[in-house]
Amino acid sequence: MKILIAASEAFPFAKTGGLADVVGALSQVFSRAEGVEVALFLPKYRNIGGGAFSLKAVGGNFLIPMSGRVETATMSQVQWGRVSVYFIENRKYFDRPGMYRANFGDYEDNDERFIFFSRAVLEGAKFIGFKPDVIHCHDWQTGLVSAYLKTIYRIDSFFSKTATVFTINNIAYQGMFPKETLLKAGFPWADFTPDKLEFYGGMNFMKAGLVFSDILTTVSPTYAGEIQFKPDFGKGLEGVLRSRSVDLFGVLNGIDEEIWDPATDAFLERGYDIKSFQRGKAAAKIALQRELGFDENKDMLLAGVVSRLEQQKGLDILCKAMPEYLGKIQFAVLGAGDPGLSEAFANLAKAEPKKIFFETGFHDSLAHRIYAASDIFIMPSRFEPCGLSQMIAMRYGALPVVTRTGGLKDTVNYNGEPKDSNGFAINNADEGELKSVLGHIISLYGWRENWDIMVRNAMKTDFSWTRSAQEYLKLFNIAYQKKQL
Ligand code: ADP
Ligand code: GLC
Repeated sequence: MKILIAASEAFPFAKTGGLADVVGALSQVFSRAEGVEVALFLPKYRNIGGGAFSLKAVGGNFLIPMSGRVETATMSQVQWGRVSVYFIENRKYFDRPGMYRANFGDYEDNDERFIFFSRAVLEGAKFIGFKPDVIHCHDWQTGLVSAYLKTIYRIDSFFSKTATVFTINNIAYQGMFPKETLLKAGFPWADFTPDKLEFYGGMNFMKAGLVFSDILTTVSPTYAGEIQFKPDFGKGLEGVLRSRSVDLFGVLNGIDEEIWDPATDAFLERGYDIKSFQRGKAAAKIALQRELGFDENKDMLLAGVVSRLEQQKGLDILCKAMPEYLGKIQFAVLGAGDPGLSEAFANLAKAEPKKIFFETGFHDSLAHRIYAASDIFIMPSRFEPCGLSQMIAMRYGALPVVTRTGGLKDTVNYNGEPKDSNGFAINNADEGELKSVLGHIISLYGWRENWDIMVRNAMKTDFSWTRSAQEYLKLFNIAYQKKQL
C-alpha cells in the first residue's frame, strides 16, 4: 500500500505542538509495516534543512494555479528511515519567521499558503510519480486536498483509485476565511453550498476535509463523541460530523517511545526506568531545582507544565490557584502563546523566584528535564482532543493532573484508589476543583508507598503506537475499498 501523508508539521522537521509528534511518529510506524510505502509531504519553512538532515533538490518545478495567476512550486527531499519526506517550496509563502503566524497574529494570507500547499501535494505526487492508494491528511491546513480530489481532480486518472482519510487533531482550529477564498482556491461558485464548502457565509477548510474525505478520524474515542454530541465541542461543525457519523472513528494517539524514554534520554544527566525511578527522579529534580534557582530538596513536591498557553489548556485556573500552594509545591512552567497569561505567570515567577519558574518559548530540552523532574504534571484542559503531554509525563513517572475530557479521560485513570490509578482527575477546569485535588495530592505525597504505586502504574501504561497504527491501516483499507466502488 502506498500512503501519502500530508500535514503542516512533523517532528523532527517542524513542530508547534502535538500534531507534529503524531505525524512524525505515524509516518515512521506505517513505513515499518509490511508492504507499505510512505511519502510525507510538508511545507518547506525557513528553518528546515541543515543539521542532521541535508535536503536534496528534486530537479525541475511545477505550477500551481492561484486565482488567475500561477505560482511556482519546487521540491526537495530527504530520506528519513524508510520514509521519503518531500518539502514543498515556495519562498513567498513559506520562507518566513513563523509557521502560521508572526508573533501573535496569524499570517493574513494563510488561506493562500495552504491552498497552495494542498494543491501542490497533488501536483507534487504526480511530479514524482508517487501514485498513492491513500492520502492521509491532518487538520484544516490540508482540508482542501480531499475537496480537490473529489472536484477538480475527479477525472484525473492518476488519482482514480486514491482514497482519502482525514484526521481531526483539533476541531478548534478550522481555517475560516471569507467567501472570496473560494475563488483563490479555484472552486466554482456552484460548490459554495452548505453541503459542500460554504460555512456561515465563508469558507472553512476543516469542513472541506470533513465533507469530502472517504473516512474521518479523530485522536481519541471520547473526543469523537464529544465533537458530535456535546454542546460547544464541535465548534459549529457538529452537524457536519453527525451527518458523517458512520465514517468517523476515534483512534487514540500514542507517543514515540524512543524519543520519550527516561532510560535513554540524552537531555537528562542520568537515565532511569521503572525499577530505578526513585533515585533517577530525585536526581533529575535536584538538577532542575539547581538549574531554576529553587531550594534543593528532593522531598519538595514539584509540579511541571509544558504547554501551549491557550484557553483550551485551562492554565489560567492554575495561575490563579498557584499562590495558595507556595511553600508546599514548587512550580516549573514552560509555555508559549497567550501574552496575557504569559505575563501573569511571569509576574508570579518574578515575585517568588525560588518557588515558581516560568519560561516562555519552545524549548525541547527543558521540556524533557521538566517531565523527568516533576512529581505531578498539571493539564486542566477545557477540552483535549487527545493530549500527548500527559502520556509523556506518565512515561517519565510524573503523575498527571487532568480534567476528564477527550483523550485525557481515555488515558488517565483515577478513582481514589492508588492501585487502580495512574494520575489525578477533576471533572471541570475549575479553580475550586483544582485546589481541592492539589490539597489531596499534598497529603498523599507524604504516603510514599501509595505514591510509588501510582508512579509505577503510570510508567507501565502502554502508550505505544502499535495498536493504533493497526487501526489506521485497517481504516486505510476500508477507505480504499470504498473508493473503488
Ligand atoms: P497540543 O498539541 O494541543 O499542544 P499535546 O499534549 O498533544 O498538546 O502535545 C504537546 C506537545 O508539544 C508535547 O510534545 C509537548 O511536550 C510539546 N510542547 C508544548 N509546549 C512546549 C514548549 N513550550 N516547549 C517545548 N515543548 C512543548
Ligand atoms: C492537537 C490537540 C491535542 C492532540 C494533538 C495531536 O494539537 O490539541 O490534544 O494530542 O493535536 O493529535
